[in-house]
Amino acid sequence: MNKPVLLGADLQRALFAADMIEGLSALPKATPPKWFYDAEGSRLFSEITRLPEYYPTRTERALLAQVRGDIGQAVGPGRTVVEYGAGSGDKAVTLLHGLERPRAYVCIEIDPGAARATAEEVAGCFPDLPTKGVAGDFTALDGATPAGPPGTRLGFFPGSTIGNFDPTDAAMLLADMREHLGRGAQLLIGVDLVKDRDVLVAAYDDAAGVTAAFNRNLLVRANRELGADFDLEAFAHEARWNPSESRIEMHLRAIRPTSVRLDGRTFAFAEGETIHTESSYKYTRDRLAALAEAAGWSLETVWTDPKDWFALALLEG
Ligand code: TRP
Repeated sequence: MNKPVLLGADLQRALFAADMIEGLSALPKATPPKWFYDAEGSRLFSEITRLPEYYPTRTERALLAQVRGDIGQAVGPGRTVVEYGAGSGDKAVTLLHGLERPRAYVCIEIDPGAARATAEEVAGCFPDLPTKGVAGDFTALDGATPAGPPGTRLGFFPGSTIGNFDPTDAAMLLADMREHLGRGAQLLIGVDLVKDRDVLVAAYDDAAGVTAAFNRNLLVRANRELGADFDLEAFAHEARWNPSESRIEMHLRAIRPTSVRLDGRTFAFAEGETIHTESSYKYTRDRLAALAEAAGWSLETVWTDPKDWFALALLEG
C-alpha cells in the first residue's frame, strides 16, 4: 500500500476499456464509478460540492465545526489521525482543532499529488504536528500500518464516501480499516442520512446541470481515451431514489435507440435503457449501527445537524 499506485497510461487505458466492456455487457448495464475522476471529472465534482442543492458537504463541514470539541472529548488526547482519502484538508484541520494534543496526521490517497497537497495544507495550520501524505488505495489496505503507536489512532472517513459502496463492500471496508488502525482505535465517519425524497434527488440532479455534466463526462472520457463513439446527445442524466435499497442511483438513460462501438465491439441500447453509473446509499441510525457491527466496530456516539440530514459517527473497536 505504500507503493504509489501510479499506473502507466497504457495500463490505465486497458483497465478502463475492460471495465467499460464488462459494464456494457452486463444486464442491467452498470459501470464502476472510479472512471468519473479524470481532470474534468474532479473539477466538476468539486463544483458539485458547492452547488445550492448539494447539501452534504456544507452540512458536514458546519456540523464538524460545531461539535469538534465534543469529538475531542470523546476521542481523548494524543491521537494520530489517519484520513482515508484526501479531498478535504479543511475538514482535517477542523477536526484537529477539536482534538487534545494530536500526535500526527496521515492521509492515504490514490492521487499522490493530492496526498502531498493535503498533508502540506494540514502542516501549514499545525507547524509542530508531524504530517504525511501516503499515495495508496484505501480500498486495498494490505495490512500495512500507518504512523503512530497502536492504540492511539483515530481513523477519519468524511464525505459520506462510505455511501458509494454497497452494504457488503462497505462493511468489508470498515473491517479493513479496523484492522489497519490497530487495537484500541476509533473511526470517525461522515454519513448521509435518509431524508425527504425531493431533497435527495435534487442533490444529484441540480438545476445548473453540473451533476448531469459530471455523469455524462464518463462517456466523453470513453470517446476520447478509448475511441468509443457514444452519441452524447442520446443520453440523459437521471437521479433516482431507490427506497427499497435506500440509495440514490445515477443513471445515463438512452432517450432513443442508440449503439456504441468500443474496442471493436458494438453495444446496443433500447430506448429508455440505462447505464447505472453510481449509487449513494443513505443511512438511518439503525442501519448505521448494523453496518458498524457487521464490521466489528461498535457505534459509540452519533452527532447530527439540526435538520438530522447528516451524521458524524464515532466507532470504537
Ligand atoms: N460520496 C458523496 C455522495 O455520494 C460524493 C459523491 C460521489 C457524489 N460521487 C458523486 C456526488 C456523484 C454527486 C455525484 O454524495
